[in-house]
Amino acid sequence: MDTKTNKIIIIITLLVVSSFSINNAQVFDVTKYGAKADGVTSIEQAMMSTWKKACASTSPSKIIIPKGTFALTKVKFQGPCKSHVEIQLQGTLKAPAHITTKSEGWVTFEHIDKFTLGGSGTFDGQGKAAWKLNDCHKSIKCTFYLMNLRFNFVSNAIIRDITSLDSKNFHVNVLGCKNITFLNLNVIAPENSPNTNGIHIGRSDGVYITDPIIKTGGDCISLGDGSKNIHITSVSCGPGHGISVGSLGRYAKEEPVSGVWVKDCTLTNTENGVRIKTWPSSNPGIASDMHFENIKMVNVSNPILIDQQYCPWNQCNRDASSLVQINDVSFKNIHGTSFTPLAVKLACSAKYPCKNVVLGGINLSYSGSTSEKISSECSNIVPSLSGNQSPKICAK
Ligand SMILES: *[C@@H]1O[C@H](CO)[C@@H](O)[C@H](O)[C@H]1NC(C)=O
Ligand SMILES: *[C@@H]1O[C@H](CO)[C@@H](O)[C@H](O)[C@H]1NC(C)=O
Ligand SMILES: *[C@@H]1O[C@H](CO)[C@@H](O)[C@H](O)[C@H]1NC(C)=O
Repeated sequence: MDTKTNKIIIIITLLVVSSFSINNAQVFDVTKYGAKADGVTSIEQAMMSTWKKACASTSPSKIIIPKGTFALTKVKFQGPCKSHVEIQLQGTLKAPAHITTKSEGWVTFEHIDKFTLGGSGTFDGQGKAAWKLNDCHKSIKCTFYLMNLRFNFVSNAIIRDITSLDSKNFHVNVLGCKNITFLNLNVIAPENSPNTNGIHIGRSDGVYITDPIIKTGGDCISLGDGSKNIHITSVSCGPGHGISVGSLGRYAKEEPVSGVWVKDCTLTNTENGVRIKTWPSSNPGIASDMHFENIKMVNVSNPILIDQQYCPWNQCNRDASSLVQINDVSFKNIHGTSFTPLAVKLACSAKYPCKNVVLGGINLSYSGSTSEKISSECSNIVPSLSGNQSPKICAK
């Protein structure tokens, strides 16, 4: 062989070896560390032992939870880790049904950089008993029950293909994360389960949600303060309360919401479609650069809604204006049916009227049973209108 061929062979060998070592991550199977798929014995210890090993590994590692039903009381996966860690959930994890703890996350991931959670498995929060006690939608002073999955300060992560079932509270909570992607998530809880938002995001920069199917009792997706660069694409939502920015302004020192793109979604039989909500008599805040495009509404009760007087259960003074400034918002190509005649409601703050709101290609028809005509209602806003308009937007 000449030296050129030799060099090529060496290069190919190096490539093969390096890709082999990446694909050939160290594997930790929880059943080798004492986890039993009996649905009764909590596998918390086995999860912690495998996590410690995987997280300390200087080469990429993978934790496998194989098929079967595993009981799990509660677990927190804490970083930082030395290299990329992947958790593959193939089976079902079951939370305790009786409520032994009232703290925040059932399964929590915290301070991890470069992380993957995948597999076709299920996180079953067994929320039925907790839903009866959950009054956070009615009262400020309420007890928060466990959320199925919490991601706290996680970066460069991919969460894919998993199912979150019957969470006691929010299904997935994203806090302080950077560059986190959710692909093909399944979220399932009954329509009448309170506060079971599908994915809630707060104080995070770069969140990508693609192709989830969300059927739940709360918002399908909700964005709290400090949500930046949020890309929500191809969501199937319903039942549920739709896709919401807010509520904002309830608490002091909230961070701005900026950069939200919601595209190519279908909402079916939901209470709201796309919504921005802020509290009246609120703390100051900003919500800007938010875009809703190519959305199909099927029998949605409030398809397009800006509500700056959001005050559930009369917990606030409705007479005082919201101090949250909404600007640079677009609603484009939104079509389908509205279950109520009032298909578009843009209720902005008297003190801080909405600025730079654009609506174009709105084609909604009324699917309810009264003889009323489809309509819109506007206050403290002069939107720019283009293209089709059914209903006529802000017509006097
Ligand atoms: C975001 O995270 C993904 C998954 O870890 C990674 O492949 C990608 O390079 C990251 N993007 C940036 C801009 O860091
Ligand atoms: C339309 O939505 C309303 C209110 O959510 C619901 O009661 C009704 O059953 C829905 N209609 C259809 C055909 O699903
Ligand atoms: C509006 O929607 C209706 C019902 O889906 C459809 O028949 C009609 O062609 C649409 N109009 C425009 C201008 O897109």
